[in-house]
Amino acid sequence: MKGKSGRVHSSEDARRLARRRLPRLAFDFVDGAVGRERGLARNLVRFDEILLQPRIMKDVTARSLKTRLFGQEYGVPFGIAPMGMCNLTWPGADRMMAEAARRINFPVCISSSGSSSMEEMRRWAGDRAWFQLYFGRSVEESLKMVERAEGAGYDTLVLTVDVPQLSRRVRDQRNGLSIPFRMSLRTFLDLAMHPRWSLGTLRAGIPSPRNFREDGGKSSFDRLASRAGADWKFLAKLRDRWKGNLVVKGVTLAEDAQRMLDHGVDAICVSNHGARQLDGVPAAIDLVQPIRESVGPDFPLLFDSGIRNGEDVVKALACGADFVLLGRPVLYALGADGADGLNALLNCFAEDIDIAMAQVGVTRVEEIGPRAICGELPSYRQDGRQSLPSLSSGKAGKGQD
Ligand code: FNR
Repeated sequence: MKGKSGRVHSSEDARRLARRRLPRLAFDFVDGAVGRERGLARNLVRFDEILLQPRIMKDVTARSLKTRLFGQEYGVPFGIAPMGMCNLTWPGADRMMAEAARRINFPVCISSSGSSSMEEMRRWAGDRAWFQLYFGRSVEESLKMVERAEGAGYDTLVLTVDVPQLSRRVRDQRNGLSIPFRMSLRTFLDLAMHPRWSLGTLRAGIPSPRNFREDGGKSSFDRLASRAGADWKFLAKLRDRWKGNLVVKGVTLAEDAQRMLDHGVDAICVSNHGARQLDGVPAAIDLVQPIRESVGPDFPLLFDSGIRNGEDVVKALACGADFVLLGRPVLYALGADGADGLNALLNCFAEDIDIAMAQVGVTRVEEIGPRAICGELPSYRQDGRQSLPSLSSGKAGKGQD
């Protein structure tokens, strides 16, 4: 798992290099968030404020990053979050993620608005590929996508529920970003100033939302269309229809998480969409502990939003997540140096998780629990009462001693 890129040693390196190589339009699409981007900053700051508790005098020689989820063993406790239009970062970025997923053995989630089709992604990533569904223009159209995913061989479907309406992202508006792509004078100048990216991307073909083109033209893509039909009734229909693993992504409230259980979902992903939808949103990491408390110790909990390094992964697992998804850092790394950048970054993540595990005195991922956190678990007040950290809640009990 050695990356060749000698320049990517962290998400911050990758971001800096991506900023240089990508046209502003593409970099801002990845890097940006909604509003004044305080929610994005909050996601990151709260991770920094959580401290890990070193545990000494333990034999942690034999460590493993292997993690079980949905009865499958993965090589690491992270996968790649669904992200639309990844090929904007590097021609063939989707395929590079798929190949990394196979090699390292982790799940990669292709978005409904991905720049490769779900069929291509399934071919490239095999059973490591998951499919992410946005509610389409109608229940029928959405269930058609589900049928397609089933036909393509997917066994895990991720329903994203936190985009009832696409948010207004100031940077994208300023840059005149439109998907499908339309050229303006401003974008022409932006692209002309980044010839390496522009020539490569033009040669490979301008990225577009491929799940829609592949659909025989029956459902054309409208990025701004309402996706508000993803309600409880739709979830019940979907659960009825989809026999594979069903994950609901974008849960931020303990009460909703509880209701997901009643609807028979197999896992939830605690996420605030990287603060791309709402600026005044609580930091996602603060929501893990109350949600873990509400769903009990054994229900599979995924997490994303704000993870920037291996220690953040350990923090999220310690707060009660079972598995995490990486978002922007993956696109920064691809934007910095294509497959080499991606592999270098994934290598950093795996190494940092391994080292942090040694530091907090555990040898297996499932042993990472609240004892790895210094002081109280971060928690956001929900339903009018503070969820106090307690060793009998969440993943506590899976002790480290
Ligand atoms: C996303 N995200 C996203 N989520 C989803 O369910 N479907 C999608 O199509 C997309 N598209 C998308 C594009 C880009 C460029 C980004 C950065 C993100 C959200 C993503 O899955 C994840 O929730 C966030 O990226 C997590 O936040 P961080 O860790 O990237 O800050």
